[in-house]
Amino acid sequence: MPNPVRPLLIAPSILASDFARLGEECRAVLEAGADWLHVDVMDGHYVPNLTIGLPVLRSLRAALPDAFLDVHLMIDNPDEMAPRFAEAGADMVTFHPEPSRHPHRTLQAIRAAGARAGLVFNPGTPLTWVDHLVEELDMILLMSVNPGFGGQAFIESTLGKLNLLRQKLDALGADLDIQIDGGVTADNAGALRAAGANVLVAGSAIFKKDDYAAAVDAIRQAAHGEITT
Ligand code: DX5
Ligand code: ZN
Repeated sequence: MPNPVRPLLIAPSILASDFARLGEECRAVLEAGADWLHVDVMDGHYVPNLTIGLPVLRSLRAALPDAFLDVHLMIDNPDEMAPRFAEAGADMVTFHPEPSRHPHRTLQAIRAAGARAGLVFNPGTPLTWVDHLVEELDMILLMSVNPGFGGQAFIESTLGKLNLLRQKLDALGADLDIQIDGGVTADNAGALRAAGANVLVAGSAIFKKDDYAAAVDAIRQAAHGEITT
């Protein structure tokens, strides 16, 4: 069953943008019709790559006061850092449960700092974390690649896991945003939307194209096209 209640949101991952022109790139995708900006924070420990941190997030917040900043933490110390990203102006902060000692407390701390809170599931991470955290969650992010790098191929088994997640949320009586991140293109957006995802992250499929508006539109049209309700 798709999730017709929640609108489809396209969230370009700035990891694939030209960092030397970051502000310009962000404005360009928003003008091209993107809904959120997806900000990938990597620490070189939890994942084998280093990207950006709090100073860049603060600069983006100041430069783009109306943009929805969706911060995806791929770091070893989310309990310490997640609330700081919320305080720095993130609208959504998501983190991976494995490196967290107290995910319930951290989700509460993100909300207390004024942001929405979400949990991220790697391809190999079981969904059981949801059972006792659901009330603290605004969004669940299913990774459709292993985290660390843009430009990887979409892992097809994500679709089956998405179906399981929808069943679990239905059983729990929960209605949350469901985000997919990694290898999302116009080729798989329809199947993802039809299976119930409503927030699609796309890095390469947008920033590596010449025409951002056409790239955003292609994903949006593909997502809408497959809905059969
Ligand atoms: C991967 C990141 C993704 C990545 C997506 O660890 O979380 O957000 O930037 O990039 P693409 O769309 O190129 O797979
Ligand atoms: Zn991400």
